[in-house]
Amino acid sequence: MISLSGAKPSQLIQKIQQHESAPQTLSALYSPDEIEQLKQWAVASYENSDHTQQKLLKKNGKPLGNMAHPQGEVKEAIEKLLRAKLKDKLEEPYGLAFTFHRNYFPYGTHTDSGYDPDEYIYKQGIIPLEVDPDGAEVYTVIFQQKAYHSVSYPGKVETIASLKPEELEHIHGLDNNNDLSDEELSRYFQGPSDRERFKGFEIALPFRWQKGNMALWDRAHLHCSSDFSNHSINGKMGLMWISWRI
Ligand SMILES: [Fe+2]
Repeated sequence: MISLSGAKPSQLIQKIQQHESAPQTLSALYSPDEIEQLKQWAVASYENSDHTQQKLLKKNGKPLGNMAHPQGEVKEAIEKLLRAKLKDKLEEPYGLAFTFHRNYFPYGTHTDSGYDPDEYIYKQGIIPLEVDPDGAEVYTVIFQQKAYHSVSYPGKVETIASLKPEELEHIHGLDNNNDLSDEELSRYFQGPSDRERFKGFEIALPFRWQKGNMALWDRAHLHCSSDFSNHSINGKMGLMWISWRI
């Protein structure tokens, strides 16, 4: 089931679409010193238990990962660094929010396009800070398909098959002729057995988690983490940010 709550009116969607651009990887945007600084700010944020939040997996109650919301001076310093890096990429004025995410399981296909039907959503991004094991190949896979409010697209084929037309019409660009290739399914997911899970989708950008790089994309894009278990990934930690136009 796809929640329809928070769906935006078509007039606002048209305004949002005027500021869309192709997802991109910004390479070597952060120096090794800046990455170290961000990691220290992550440690400081996680240490303050008032500002951390654990998410549990629905199926077995195991921790999916945990988030930390920076506060005070750390928050101000991160915002300053982010805005400096985004100077030529985003148009002022915009609002910005960010959270550290540590994950032990891959995130399913979803959007972070908000629950407020009036939010003028803009860009979002990820700054990878840690991959376990270090240097392993792990991705955030960003699809061409979009939804203009926060949705979770089912991972189970039976649930996908039960989606109603009024739910599917909120997923822009789904096309039954689209199939991920065997190579894409093996590189990013569990292999050809995942074909039906991604039926209708097309990859816009496979963003590899490498230190110094940042992914930048429109908030409406559906995206998910690449597979962990078949690719010997234990976890990853990064800074996620979202923006909105004001
Ligand atoms: Fe996300």
